[in-house]
Amino acid sequence: MNLKLKKSDNILAEAVIYPFYEDENLENTKDSIIDILKNFKERNRFKGSLGEVVYFTRDNNGSMQYGIFLGLGKKEEIDSEKLRIASSKALKKAEELKVTSLEMQMINAEGICLKRIVKSIAEGMILGDYKFDRYKTDKKEKVLKEVFITGIEEELEKAQEALEEAEVLTEATILARELVNEPANVLYPEELAKRAERAGETYGFSVDIFKEDKIEKLGMKAFLEVAKGSSRSPRLIVMRYFGNEENKEDILGLVGKGLTYDSGGYSIKPTDGMVTMKSDMGGAAAVIGAISAIAKMKLKINVVGVVAACENMISGKAYKPGDIIGSMAGKTIEVLNTDAEGRLTLVDAVHYIIDKEKASKVIDLATLTGAVLIALGTDVTGVVTNNADFYEELEAASELSGEKVWQLPSFEEYKELIKSDIADLKNIGGRYAGSITAGLFIGEFVQDKPWIHMDIAGTAWSEKEKNYISKGGTGAGVRTLYYLAKKKSGCCHR
Ligand code: BES
Ligand code: ZN
Ligand code: ZN
Repeated sequence: MNLKLKKSDNILAEAVIYPFYEDENLENTKDSIIDILKNFKERNRFKGSLGEVVYFTRDNNGSMQYGIFLGLGKKEEIDSEKLRIASSKALKKAEELKVTSLEMQMINAEGICLKRIVKSIAEGMILGDYKFDRYKTDKKEKVLKEVFITGIEEELEKAQEALEEAEVLTEATILARELVNEPANVLYPEELAKRAERAGETYGFSVDIFKEDKIEKLGMKAFLEVAKGSSRSPRLIVMRYFGNEENKEDILGLVGKGLTYDSGGYSIKPTDGMVTMKSDMGGAAAVIGAISAIAKMKLKINVVGVVAACENMISGKAYKPGDIIGSMAGKTIEVLNTDAEGRLTLVDAVHYIIDKEKASKVIDLATLTGAVLIALGTDVTGVVTNNADFYEELEAASELSGEKVWQLPSFEEYKELIKSDIADLKNIGGRYAGSITAGLFIGEFVQDKPWIHMDIAGTAWSEKEKNYISKGGTGAGVRTLYYLAKKKSGCCHR
């Protein structure tokens, strides 16, 4: 799908989207479209509630054209997220109608600036259009080829910049979705590393890949314990983008959980829990996607991304419940459950990024616990942090992206739960507060650095298509990390 901007003079497309608010005052407006709208309203066929769509047909110089009314909900409640949702619904209707070209009128919204309007429409449409069909031999070709957002001339120049940013952000999000959707027999540590290298070449960041011997030399013992049960060898993926040479010590470290498959190991998962575990590298995908967008947009910031990629499998070589293992930081860990493997790989990655890459702030993203689904469901990422100011920055970024976050408490009492009697730490804290103890386990390795842990187990994968979220990998985290890196968008926040 190709998205462009166009002056709203003559209509060329096969279908036109007319967005309207539920409480739009239509009384004094007279034109043929409004007349049709009034007619629909009188017959209770269209109210204008968020995402509602109805269509009509008309003759346009001898060829049939569709008009699609799109509901935006109440005028004063409109924001970027609602606009993304509405736009994705309209796009899906146009696809259903099998048109090859489509136009959408720029909306007028108080409180949202033009750039955000354009960005939200583009994001809703492009992300809503994505579907993972690589392995379908009989692929349905997309009928809809061209989409235009139309506006008046003065608007279009500003809008172009916003559209370009939206294109980069959606491409990076789709890159993350693709990585998550690839099955584990195709995407194993070596392949994930290759894809990161390819992203580096495409978007402009450097990538270093460390194999097992180098990982061993670095002393990443916990990471290697998880990896050793698999015949696929692990990789440490290091991505660097230095866009702010003046402040070299200011380095944002992004760590992504990169379990290309999690069988649970000897604490084996039931089949139902195992089938989606190709997605256990959703954190890695988010980091690769985010750095791609940051580099492509040439943001003035230094970012390092680290992924400790491996598989959690069963074999005669695998680690076992009861084992006591080491870590790069020197702390010892009692393994009480081999399915709590993510935190073991992450603590070495976090130690590495602080010690070797000199990250001054760290964010880790991980499909870490089933418990976060119990606590927050599938639409909200659970967060554990040691720094309130840093969390505020994340909240601001999340408002821009529409990806919801919620902070979990991290009182001292929780930290007691992961202390071991016979080692420094144990890798599970018992049945209660599972997402908090998992996060705080990682927190034991961040030294004094401002740190945010994002548990994306509920948000990185979707069982069903929902608005602009596709079924399967969602690309969760990519846009939020981008906005956090960008900090000030220079534009409104709705
Ligand atoms: N990768 C899983 C977490 C997960 C569960 C992600 C569901 C996505 C959907 C993680 O490695 C895991 O198995 N965690 C255990 C921890 C437990 C043993 C303390 C869990 O959540 O059950
Ligand atoms: Zn696990
Ligand atoms: Zn896992």
